[in-house]
Amino acid sequence: MKILAVETSCDETGIALLEATGGVRAPRFKVLTNLVASQIKIHRPFGGVVPNLAKREHLKNLPVLFKKLAAKHKNLKPDLITATVGPGLEPALWTGIGFAKDLAKQYDIPLAGANHLEGHLYSFLLSGSVSNIFPAIALIVSGGHTILLRVESFSKWRRLGETRDDAAGEAFDKVARLLDLPYPGGPEIEKIAKHGDPAAIVFPRPMLHDKSYDFSFSGLKTSVLYYLRDHKKANKADVAASFQQAAFDVLVTKTIRAARESDARSVMLSGGVAANRALRARLAKESKKNGWRFFVPDFKYNLDNAAMIGVAGYMAHMRKKRFKLEANGGLEI
Ligand code: KG4
Ligand code: ZN
Repeated sequence: MKILAVETSCDETGIALLEATGGVRAPRFKVLTNLVASQIKIHRPFGGVVPNLAKREHLKNLPVLFKKLAAKHKNLKPDLITATVGPGLEPALWTGIGFAKDLAKQYDIPLAGANHLEGHLYSFLLSGSVSNIFPAIALIVSGGHTILLRVESFSKWRRLGETRDDAAGEAFDKVARLLDLPYPGGPEIEKIAKHGDPAAIVFPRPMLHDKSYDFSFSGLKTSVLYYLRDHKKANKADVAASFQQAAFDVLVTKTIRAARESDARSVMLSGGVAANRALRARLAKESKKNGWRFFVPDFKYNLDNAAMIGVAGYMAHMRKKRFKLEANGGLEI
């Protein structure tokens, strides 16, 4: 089945064309084209994403990307169209839903809503098919979410925990701002942390020893704020490395505990923060040590993209999960 996917939940406009086979049990994907128009430069002066600017840019980018895709695939006739319905910024989500509705009408084919978080969860499937991987523990870490799931199958999972305040990516973005680094902060922190000492400053590890699988990052961010207030000549690389270490200690420790306690076969890592090499390396190493398989998407599929939405849309369609075709900013996984 050929799937045309549209992603507009935040500040990346994405359109992709995929070939999908195998159904919910043994899904297999081939990405034919994956186009992303990044709006980072537009939002950067504001230090974060401005919803109405995002909406304006999506409206401008969608026809341009689609034209490019159609030029590459002559006589394009997809079997299914899918668009992100949530979670995300509602004005931004509506642009993609509207665009996909028009295309579905034009081609006279079905339109399936897709959950952005399911897109992240499934994104490793874009790198190849897998078998014998369940039960799995999945850590989804993005700019808006930090969620730990126990995954029983490609269509069944249970939420073990989530952040009680800031998402991990949000903490990276906020700490980057404190360090005068541009938006988005995650990649900037990772870059300078390489030159710093992760043991230089002992920042708190919130909820590390707490029995739940929940997280909290706002206290950690505040500690960085106080540290910088009290140490005007602080070494930024040391601050970045120590902050990153504290945040990852909590993420990695809780993921390992969840995997041990549920006799997991695999660990899955996804979301924008999964682009961080230090986090990937730590979870890969722990997984190897414990005999778990480790899945993480290719670098090109960590940040928001439409290819992963194609996977989520296909899976939702195949498991007959119908999302309402309207923006739902707070949609849960
Ligand atoms: O998944 P994503 O592209 O968008 C959301 O769904 O939120 O994630 C974006 C988040 C941002 O907070 C960004 O700072 C963070 O992912 N991020 C990183 C890295 N690359 C992106 N965080 C840490 N290290 C990175 N290399
Ligand atoms: Zn995302």
